[in-house]
Amino acid sequence: MIGPRGMACAGGLLARVGSRSAISRVVRQNSPLRPLPATVTAPAVRCWRAQYSTKPEPPKEVTINSKTYPVDPEWFNVSSTILNLTSRKLHLQKDHPVSITRQIIESVFPSPTYLAYNNLDPVVSTHENFDSLGFPPNHPGRAKTDTYYINGTTLLRTHTSAHEAELFKASKSPGYLISADVYRRDEIDKSHYPVFHQMEGARVWDRNTVPNGDVVSAVYKDLEALPKHDMIIEDPNPPFHPDRNPLQPSHSAEEAEAVGKHLKRSLELMVAEIFKRVKESHARAGIQHGSEPLKVRWVEAYFPFTSPSWELEVWYQDGWLEILGCGVSQQHILRDAGVASQIGWAFGLGLERIAMLLFQIPDIRLFWSRDERFLGQFRGVEGDWGKMRPFVGFSRHPACYKDVSFWLPGHGGGGAGAAGGRGGEGEWHENDLMEVVRDVCGDVVEDVVMMDSFTHPKTGRRSVCYRVNYRSLERTLTNEEANGLHERVKGEMVGRLGVEIR
Ligand code: PHE
Repeated sequence: MIGPRGMACAGGLLARVGSRSAISRVVRQNSPLRPLPATVTAPAVRCWRAQYSTKPEPPKEVTINSKTYPVDPEWFNVSSTILNLTSRKLHLQKDHPVSITRQIIESVFPSPTYLAYNNLDPVVSTHENFDSLGFPPNHPGRAKTDTYYINGTTLLRTHTSAHEAELFKASKSPGYLISADVYRRDEIDKSHYPVFHQMEGARVWDRNTVPNGDVVSAVYKDLEALPKHDMIIEDPNPPFHPDRNPLQPSHSAEEAEAVGKHLKRSLELMVAEIFKRVKESHARAGIQHGSEPLKVRWVEAYFPFTSPSWELEVWYQDGWLEILGCGVSQQHILRDAGVASQIGWAFGLGLERIAMLLFQIPDIRLFWSRDERFLGQFRGVEGDWGKMRPFVGFSRHPACYKDVSFWLPGHGGGGAGAAGGRGGEGEWHENDLMEVVRDVCGDVVEDVVMMDSFTHPKTGRRSVCYRVNYRSLERTLTNEEANGLHERVKGEMVGRLGVEIR
């Protein structure tokens, strides 16, 4: 499934979520407005947002991972909450499930064929994140409502593909893996978090260096050398399709087919490895699995930077779960990177999504938890995958639902789609509400769901109602606390979003 941004949907490979440990800290962070320093350093930032009814003044510049970037107030939309997460790097944190997941996948793509890059800076240019990959200028993924901008040409990467061009250019090895934190403004629920981790992988063959210049034979030789697996694969798709999944003009049919086969087998092996670990970990915990073999299927997809393209879905708990997107790399990317003689594939997957499967983690907020009851369950697993066990959830704390009804700013709130909030660039976008909720409440909110929307027949004004579910993963919230947070959310909505509470 392709998301509104034309990248694969976050819910799938792009899962995101996280949890703050000490809730008291979250509440304290939301103390009244403090003056904004001229330079804001990510880990040190606590709070520059207004408590009520004022738009926060952006800083003049921000420092992320010790580099300083000039802020353009016209573009800047990165809250302190998000800036603070840029230093966490869960994919490198010892014994963290995201890091363990990364290492298990890395083991399927070994060096020296695949070199792993795990420390690339999260701040990239619009060119790297979008233009170099062939995103059209009007692509919805570029919208300020979807992407965190520092200024008009600098942003927090929305996907690890932002580094494809530089690594193809460096051309240090036939393949590479990139694991990194990525950032997307998004809804709030158990599988979405505005920061999550992706792994990108790529593999190329060079027409100038393969024996006899025969890429097809070279790819098949490498394919033969890959291990076999016993999964049932549903793949009704042709190697390419003139309308739905075109062959690139500079590729022969045989080349695209060979590269596609190598890509699919490599990724199937990765899935087989993950599910082998899931099974073993379940067995250790006494959970019985039927003898049913694993089922996976390939689905045709679209990405601006690959063609043909596919997604891989896995049958898991009575449904198809999308776990990655991939395809034959667009030749212009390799050409622009100065390696026109190479041809190859790329994939991208969401590490949280796979970690949730591996460890049975039910809510993406948990990944950000510093609570020993979470982290302690994975201690020692990094050095010994044989210790892996399913996560045992904390007792579930009660939900506390609070509704907020409001008139959207302006007349009619920006036209079709805007009330749903998922649509274009009106004055109102649902993601702005999500950001306010996250800023005020941290990870205390489990989800935010639209309950109702109506347009006043005379004035054309649109009113919507959202239900906020206040439920901490770590402790019981009192109704008083939830009320306090809800009042603050409403105050910020008025001040920052210009809505009128009903
Ligand atoms: N970058 C894509 C995404 O975030 C995934 C992808 C990577 C797809 C590489 C194809 C090739 O959805």
